[in-house]
Amino acid sequence: MKNFTNELFKQTFHKERDKLYFSPGRVNIIGGHTDYNGGAVLPFCIDFGIYGAVSKRTDNQIHVFSDNIRRKGIISFALDQLEYDENRNYANYISGLFHELHIRKYVVSDGFDLVIAGNLPRGGGLSSSAALLVLVCNIVNDLNNFGLDGVQIALISKAVENLYIGVNCGIMDQFIIANGKKDHAIYLESNTLNYEFIPCNMEDYKFVLVNSNITRRLKKSKYNLRQKETQDILAILKQHVDIEYICDLLPNDYEQYEAYIEEEDLKKRFKHLVNEHDRVKQAKIALSNNDFVGLGMLLTKAHESARDLYEVSSLVLDRLVVLAMDAGSLGSKMIGGGFGGSTLNLVETSKLDGFIDNFTELYIREYNSQPIINVVKVTDGACELKWLSKQIKNRSNNFLF
Ligand code: GLA
Repeated sequence: MKNFTNELFKQTFHKERDKLYFSPGRVNIIGGHTDYNGGAVLPFCIDFGIYGAVSKRTDNQIHVFSDNIRRKGIISFALDQLEYDENRNYANYISGLFHELHIRKYVVSDGFDLVIAGNLPRGGGLSSSAALLVLVCNIVNDLNNFGLDGVQIALISKAVENLYIGVNCGIMDQFIIANGKKDHAIYLESNTLNYEFIPCNMEDYKFVLVNSNITRRLKKSKYNLRQKETQDILAILKQHVDIEYICDLLPNDYEQYEAYIEEEDLKKRFKHLVNEHDRVKQAKIALSNNDFVGLGMLLTKAHESARDLYEVSSLVLDRLVVLAMDAGSLGSKMIGGGFGGSTLNLVETSKLDGFIDNFTELYIREYNSQPIINVVKVTDGACELKWLSKQIKNRSNNFLF
């Protein structure tokens, strides 16, 4: 993949690239929709992601070519033309980044030529947009010696999603991709941005992703609606209790405050959030203690809550969870924003082959096609690649951008 990206750069721009970067996808073990409600999350980076080969230009032009959207050719814009432009397609993430940097007084005068390629499964819900943003923010940071740290890179990337693209997401995806560490998850408190690395001892257990193959864009999904609903809940609660975020309340507080909320749907969202935040804390302890059986049970509970209370699952995701449990998973849940994407399954290493066989059989019986199953490793966050990481898988052709 490294060589492939380098070669593609040469073919596209007829010169050698200066630098090569990698930015991974992410999986959240648990912490569904807590990150824009002041709650905790427990994500990690995976060995699938986006590669970026780049060389600096001496004018103010940005030229970008994506392996997966070859039909768009080279997309170009100037650093003084940073307003959102539909025709710019995925490159709006890049112009948006320069826009946010400009607002923060980071002056960039020279552009670059960039080729991106990767192996993040399309529709996998593995945060390809955050991977792209953090990739480019790392590149711009390095090329211009801005000295931004991982937290600043995450905040700037999030601002692009929120203010420029129009998705009111939380900080989780950008944060883990900018700060992830091999063999560790991050326990992140979204209200303070305090974080802790939690070792993932994955010799005896494996994280297995199953792709629902349902592509959904967060902007078009009900994600922003959920965000709005939680703002409404918070406004009601604030009339009765001194809190800054919904997740400042504990599961026990639910009984006391739910009566103030009239709408049944909003009650359900509220209940999910206080319990999910609590589950993240329990999951952190379970993972720290290598209690994978306990962790698995928390995953399944989190899925049930996402399905029944927060209502961000889908029929296919729900079936994938049932099939995975029948096939021998210790726990199974949807990941990411929901309405599509992948499920995360926790499987004993000694039972992995059996799990894959069982799951495949059940899946074929139900859907009459082969499932997309990937056993993922817990990897570092975005970085410059100075040598070929053995963890990076071979190229597949279904990468989103
Ligand atoms: C998307 C968002 C995240 C988070 C998850 C749901 O991935 O980008 O900020 O809210 O959904 O947990």
